Amino acid sequence: QKLLIIDTDCGIDDALAIIVALAARGVKVLGITCCFGNTAVDNVCQNVMRVLTVCQQTQIPVYKGSAGPLIGPVTGFKDHFGTDGLGDVLENSEIWKGQIQKEHAVHALIRLVNENQGEVSLIALGPLTNLALAVRLDPTLPQKLKDLYIMGGNMEGKGNLTPSAEFNFSLDAESAHIVLEEYTCSTHIATWEFTCRNKLSWESFDELVNQDTSAARFMKKITSKCWAYSREPRISNKDLLFGHGFVPYDAFAVAACVDSSVITESLQCAVRVEVQGQLGRGMMVVDPANTLKKGHLVFVMRTCDLKKFSLMLKAALQIA
Ligand code: BDR
Ligand code: CA
Repeated sequence: QKLLIIDTDCGIDDALAIIVALAARGVKVLGITCCFGNTAVDNVCQNVMRVLTVCQQTQIPVYKGSAGPLIGPVTGFKDHFGTDGLGDVLENSEIWKGQIQKEHAVHALIRLVNENQGEVSLIALGPLTNLALAVRLDPTLPQKLKDLYIMGGNMEGKGNLTPSAEFNFSLDAESAHIVLEEYTCSTHIATWEFTCRNKLSWESFDELVNQDTSAARFMKKITSKCWAYSREPRISNKDLLFGHGFVPYDAFAVAACVDSSVITESLQCAVRVEVQGQLGRGMMVVDPANTLKKGHLVFVMRTCDLKKFSLMLKAALQIA
């Protein structure tokens, strides 16, 4: 059995990613640790509980973690996925069940990995603040992980939050830097460009969410307002990154972890995060020639079996 811990800033794509993990066969989610990002950390905790409630998995413990980056103010909420992170369409009365644990997310992460040494796959779907703090408290943590899957960063110098930086890395560049330098376990990265190049057509997205299940109805509802804009053809189809379609960013990291055959090619290389400068801050620099002479190489995902991935998403939404 695969043991997972998911660290998330639960927005819309995180919700789908969590559902993929919950639905995967032979997988046990030990806990979900929350971080600020798409919305404030309290909303993130609530959103995770909502997803677990829809999937009838409220026995999975949820831990509240970092409310902001290591350095500087909290940035980047804006209207990305609405103020609440799930598209501002759910009523307060749409109750979620269960309770947030008292233990801090960073302590829980360290404890759960130490209790299951060598067995845990850690999946990071938001800013990497909790992971950076965890390695400061327990420097041996990375060597006790089985592997690490990250959605974040970029590989072609293109960004969605700034011209050159991806959202998760940009929100806490120092934490991204610490994680890529110090988590020397097997590390797999789904960059922003990779996820955009493998976006789903609206036809296949509709096929996913029009299934007669609670999880599909939930996904349909939370994407109804906020992703609607990219259905409009005002964005050029020729632009491979910002073009037409639904990008399930975080779900790629989960899919790669639970079924490695979804990823058909990765580049094994050195990477580093820029923490200085203005335009370049938060950018992941890919160094295939290893001019940095780093001992630790990561796997940067390059191509995927989109058909297999779509089928995985479709099956996941049949969970409840
Ligand atoms: C990442 O930023 C967040 O908004 C998404 O949830 C995803 O993790 C994409 O850049
Ligand atoms: Ca996310």
